[in-house]
Amino acid sequence: MTETTPAVDLAEAEAQVDLPPLGSQERYDALMQVVRNRVTVRKFDPDYVVPDDHFRLILEAARHGPSGANAQPWQFIVVRDAALKALISEYFVAEQRFRAKAKMKFPTPDYRGLATAPGFVVVCSDMRWVNAFPVLNDGSDLDRMYHENAERILLQSVAAATMSAHLAAAALGYTVWWVTAIGQEEAQTHMRPLLGIPEQISVLDILVFGPPAAKPYKRWRRPPEEIIHWDRYNPDHFMNDAELEDWIKTRRHRVMFKDASKVD
Ligand SMILES: Cc1cc2nc3c(=O)[nH]c(=O)nc-3n(C[C@H](O)[C@H](O)[C@H](O)COP(=O)(O)O)c2cc1C
Repeated sequence: MTETTPAVDLAEAEAQVDLPPLGSQERYDALMQVVRNRVTVRKFDPDYVVPDDHFRLILEAARHGPSGANAQPWQFIVVRDAALKALISEYFVAEQRFRAKAKMKFPTPDYRGLATAPGFVVVCSDMRWVNAFPVLNDGSDLDRMYHENAERILLQSVAAATMSAHLAAAALGYTVWWVTAIGQEEAQTHMRPLLGIPEQISVLDILVFGPPAAKPYKRWRRPPEEIIHWDRYNPDHFMNDAELEDWIKTRRHRVMFKDASKVD
């Protein structure tokens, strides 16, 4: 029989948890100060250099993120080389132009700020980690259903860690930018050779941060009563297809940017 070693020293692991008293307003306020002030900008001070320690502090927050099966299916590539950043950003600027021509009607942001962004972390995962979650791997319909869920578990896990990193960056005083416009295979094939990423590994997003080039602003938030349901789904919040379509047509561009004319 194989010997099973506990993964942690239990006494030490318990000692590592330091929760405040229940309902601690002080800790809540400290957290919310960071949460509220995590704001997106898409152009940063190009002359600022992020100390390596700040990258470490930010990724330390990511490391503590929760994940399905505690698989921690994430890898973070800190890109400091200016030439590499410029090469990576070329894809995004081209994609931005392509989208404009393809008439997707999506108010595509300006990706030129990527090339000179001081903080640049490529977030990767190995999609084979889905096998760490409940799957059958027998090619059946049932297995497809479980695989779909396993993929969601994986993506949610990486997003959770990424969010912690964004908050840590905000806590250090940086403005942030979460870039996901890279799911397309083309983006993967552009970036993998530049960063020496094996083909099994997928780039999921880029965490960009730095001091802002212009004054940052807070974007619109839905009021709590629009999103919180108590005990049952409140049908007042259900949008039919036409309402949803109308929202996308008339509101989306107004909530993504300061105003419709000022795409940033
Ligand atoms: C999952 C996710 C994907 C995003 N993808 C992009 C992206 O590809 N490009 C971009 O410019 N911004 C992207 N954003 C940033 C959002 O546009 C931004 O968070 C949103 O407009 C709210 O603004 P705030 O971050 O200032 O609160 C993304 C954010 C999240 C959480």
